Amino acid sequence: MASSEDLARYFAAGTGLDPFGEAFSRRHAVMPFRGKKRLPPEEMQDVWLQVQSQPGRPGKRLAYIHIPFCANHCLFCGFYKNAYVPQTGADYVELVIEEIRREAQSNAVHGKPIHAVYFGGGTPTALNAGELSRLITTVRTELPLAPDCEITVEGRIIHFTPDKIDACLEAGANRFSIGVQTFDTDVRKRQGRRSSREEAVRFLEYLRDQDRAALVIDLIYGLPGQTLDIWQRDLETAADIAPDGLDLYGLNLIPTTPLAKAIAAGKFPATPELNRIGAFYRAGAEFFRRRNWRQISNNHWARTTRERNLYNLLIKEGADCVAFGSGAGGSFGAVGYGLNGDLALYGEDVRAGRKSLGMMTVSDELSALRTLVTAGFEVGHLDLGRLDRSSGQAMTPVFEPLLHQWQGAGLLSFADGIVDLTLAGRFWYSNLVSAFHDILSLELGRPENAARAIS
Ligand SMILES: C[S@@+](CC[C@H](N)C(=O)[O-])C[C@H]1O[C@@H](n2cnc3c(N)ncnc32)[C@H](O)[C@@H]1O
Ligand code: SF4
Repeated sequence: MASSEDLARYFAAGTGLDPFGEAFSRRHAVMPFRGKKRLPPEEMQDVWLQVQSQPGRPGKRLAYIHIPFCANHCLFCGFYKNAYVPQTGADYVELVIEEIRREAQSNAVHGKPIHAVYFGGGTPTALNAGELSRLITTVRTELPLAPDCEITVEGRIIHFTPDKIDACLEAGANRFSIGVQTFDTDVRKRQGRRSSREEAVRFLEYLRDQDRAALVIDLIYGLPGQTLDIWQRDLETAADIAPDGLDLYGLNLIPTTPLAKAIAAGKFPATPELNRIGAFYRAGAEFFRRRNWRQISNNHWARTTRERNLYNLLIKEGADCVAFGSGAGGSFGAVGYGLNGDLALYGEDVRAGRKSLGMMTVSDELSALRTLVTAGFEVGHLDLGRLDRSSGQAMTPVFEPLLHQWQGAGLLSFADGIVDLTLAGRFWYSNLVSAFHDILSLELGRPENAARAIS
């Protein structure tokens, strides 16, 4: 049971303070492996065969295809895996196509529609036009895609040439998610982004003017050297380009990245303190609110009705996801899996006719409740009644004291069992989710899965 002392550990700093800058002293990551048990490697192939033989669960479904190549390692990025080499890329595409074809007719994949496909990376747009076309066409012909399936290709500005854009569109891609990070030429170049502001703008306008697919761009705030003035200009440039959608991500300073190492070695100025980062989020969120863009999740805005952001929303809701390619991750019900990130191992496995499983997990019985909280807070809204019904217990009274405290601190409004996050609450989303997950674990008999306090 969660005691009042347990709850008090999650209280935000008191009223009268700036909720963006001072609610908590640190950001708490949502732990992706909470409540998940890793299976021993020798059991993974058997469990995979069982999963594949069962018909899919009801509900919307997803497919993810990972392309683990990049032209260079951008300093801030934790996703980098392999340098792009044309022959390696070509061989890899053949392997992924083989993997997709092999699984397409399994009970788990066949039969029920897939509603969103994501070609992510890395940099899918590093591949050549023919490879992009073959990959997208394979997915469209082999997998049971819904007629209105969202098909996203993630990419970057350099090397995404007009012939590749045409190849993606002709093969059926209907959404491009392009990493921009910042338009400021200086800040870009210091992070390993090779194109200038002018080249980035010209490219995005070209892609927008094709008008055949949703255009989404990613911006990051908190990069070294990116002042609030530079950020304001980033927002204005993005609004002028008028994409269909936009992500605003706070820089996550991942210890293994070249950026974190350079800062630790004193070769780079430190990134802004947490109490200044909230101001960037607030500036961005208010900027787009004033322009009447719809905020469809904490970090995502849509300007037009073309943008749905389906893949990202459904993955947070725990939708089943079939995954292909080295380093990809997916899930079927309680079983989650990650494919080998090592290209040689992945190739060996595909050639031997095996799913290249690098790890597999099974979730505990609280997984559906945790997902309800994560998916709700992701869109800034939680109906506690659903938590009561799903858990079969009265959870509302357990959370009430905490919700009232957070309300007083400016993080949310709470009435009639409905929680609505304020902008500041959206900024601190991961802290709120972690607190809820901890308390669910304490309250419902899984204390071993409760983490530490968040403030
Ligand atoms: C998987 S990456 C692929 C992006 C694409 N390859 C590119 O270079 O533009 C997707 C997005 O994650 C975001 N991202 C990457 N590293 C990040 C970090 N350390 N902190 C916050 N966001 C990050 C970036 O906005 C990036 O566009
Ligand atoms: S930002 Fe994109 S191109 Fe740069 S390292 Fe990360 S995934 Fe690769």
